[in-house]
Amino acid sequence: MSSLFTPFRLKDVELRNRIVVSPMCQYSAVEGVIKDWHEVHLAGLARGGAGLVVAEATAVSPEGRITPGCAGLWTDRQGEAWAKAVAAIKAAGAVPGIQIGHAGRKASANRPWEGDDHIADGDPRGWSTIAPSAVAFGANLPKVPKAMDLSEIERVKADFVAAARRALAAGFEWLELHFAHGYLAQSFFSTWSNKREDAYGGDLEGRGRFLLETLAAVREVWPDRLPLAARFGVTEFDGSDDLEEGIEMVRRLKAGGLDLIDVSMGFTTPTAQIPWGPAFMAPIAERVRRETGLPATTSWFVSQPAEAEALVADGKVDLVSLGRPLLADPHWPYRAALELGVDQAAWTLPAPYAHWLQRYRTA
Ligand SMILES: Cc1cc2nc3c(=O)[nH]c(=O)nc-3n(C[C@H](O)[C@H](O)[C@H](O)COP(=O)(O)O)c2cc1C
Repeated sequence: MSSLFTPFRLKDVELRNRIVVSPMCQYSAVEGVIKDWHEVHLAGLARGGAGLVVAEATAVSPEGRITPGCAGLWTDRQGEAWAKAVAAIKAAGAVPGIQIGHAGRKASANRPWEGDDHIADGDPRGWSTIAPSAVAFGANLPKVPKAMDLSEIERVKADFVAAARRALAAGFEWLELHFAHGYLAQSFFSTWSNKREDAYGGDLEGRGRFLLETLAAVREVWPDRLPLAARFGVTEFDGSDDLEEGIEMVRRLKAGGLDLIDVSMGFTTPTAQIPWGPAFMAPIAERVRRETGLPATTSWFVSQPAEAEALVADGKVDLVSLGRPLLADPHWPYRAALELGVDQAAWTLPAPYAHWLQRYRTA
């Protein structure tokens, strides 16, 4: 009996297995509207057998995009384009999810394959950025953001709510708030980027306020029957002992109505010393899951089926999120089922594939 291929239920949603397509920006939208490519990309990953497909970081406003090619959910037209991708994901038997976020001071950047740096000042493709404080990330992202006033904080929270409504209308059944990776929400939480002296800065309560208020506002419009998750950087790997605070923040998010945590890192400072290596986030995810009692997933350098199986079987995570391994092989779940010797009935590929592959395997 495989743990990885045991269905997972959260609220009214059931995933056919524990394999999640981690959100991956395609930087290929036009004015925030996704294109045929996104549908091919997402449907292909769903067809490969994952239980949940989380669509890329989708901006809640134009200035919240990482790059000019990032997807959005601030217009109905964008929502309609997403609805087509949702239908394609569902047709392949996966649950459609989406990550919504605001890039904060990391916004207005060139695509990764076009430099991955801030768009130069004066270039009409760029825009001015906002953040909790007027502190630049540094390195390749040197642009100094404008410190948000209270009305801007209110506006961004309202943008999250409007995007959540549009995600629901498009048919998404799983919503992930992007509270990680040095983007706006994470930069409110981190002392590297938040130097505010008002109610949105200072101690954990102040630095966590934007995250908790955004969660509460979204929870009001996102139905209780559907999972609401967040990706959050619990540590910066900056040599400090910030993990305790990160875990406490997750406890507070749970109390605020969060259903699942995607455990990641802060990426708020370019000086972080990240211990890259196979499944290096798994022990941290396990700790977060154990100490908060919140269902959890994580990603980062999990590539082998046996590794993924062990993460679930050993209770480190409830779901395993995969990024690049699925780009390399969208049928990774099918291959994993074969490698793990999973009973053919549990392969859960769509019938037109499963039928033939079953015969092919036993021929
Ligand atoms: C092309 C690409 C785009 C990504 N875009 C996002 C994103 O939109 N949101 C996010 O939270 N993480 C993003 N990530 C990070 C992945 O979700 C994932 O956490 C990371 O790739 C580590 O998992 P892996 O080792 O299985 O690839 C991206 C990664 C890649 C490779």
